[in-house]
Amino acid sequence: MFEWVILCFVCLVFVSIVIDTLRLGISPMPSSLAVTSVVVKQLPVEVGQCCLEAGCGWGTLLFAMAKQHPDVRFVGVEASIFPYLFCVLRKMFTRTENVELCWQDVFTYPFGRVDVLVCYLFPAGMDTLKEKCEDELKQGAYVVSHTFRVPTWEPVDVVRLHDLYNTPVYTYQWGVLSGSGDTSSLVGEKNS
Ligand SMILES: C[S@@+](CC[C@H](N)C(=O)[O-])C[C@H]1O[C@@H](n2cnc3c(N)ncnc32)[C@H](O)[C@@H]1O
Repeated sequence: MFEWVILCFVCLVFVSIVIDTLRLGISPMPSSLAVTSVVVKQLPVEVGQCCLEAGCGWGTLLFAMAKQHPDVRFVGVEASIFPYLFCVLRKMFTRTENVELCWQDVFTYPFGRVDVLVCYLFPAGMDTLKEKCEDELKQGAYVVSHTFRVPTWEPVDVVRLHDLYNTPVYTYQWGVLSGSGDTSSLVGEKNS
């Protein structure tokens, strides 16, 4: 009997993740350890600021950032129910006070008080995110996105990892254009 309950639960989680993946356009695939460590290190946050992660998945990036920056408020918004519930358990067990979680479509979450927005989304999601950022983000707020660019925006910094995909980590500052052409660099060789 117990085995059946476990099996049904596993099937439910699997089906729910597949449905949410089709609905949202991306699976809850976590950032790699290498990318996480670069994003955590170069996060342009200051004490007391608010950092929002759009689509926090299982919390891989969110909890790493929150641990490294205990004086910053982190909000993780996730629309897929089981990754969100996993983050709730993770917060409970790790007693991470500076993390808030929302089960919500991030495109309905207000960006007005966000100082730094972090994301690992997908091309169509970046189009929607760009429009919302242009409408709501305050001037000077940062957007850190890895793998996918914010279309037409010019990054103030790009770091490329020495991994299989040379994963780029883009940093943008809304209202500030770097103006330089190729800003990409290998990890550790930051440019501005
Ligand atoms: C590639 S995963 C990245 C997860 C996490 N940010 C990380 O780096 O480990 C993208 C996540 O964004 C979530 N997502 C996609 N569209 C969303 C939306 N409109 N609102 C909230 N979450 C969304 C997906 O459910 C998924 O968990």
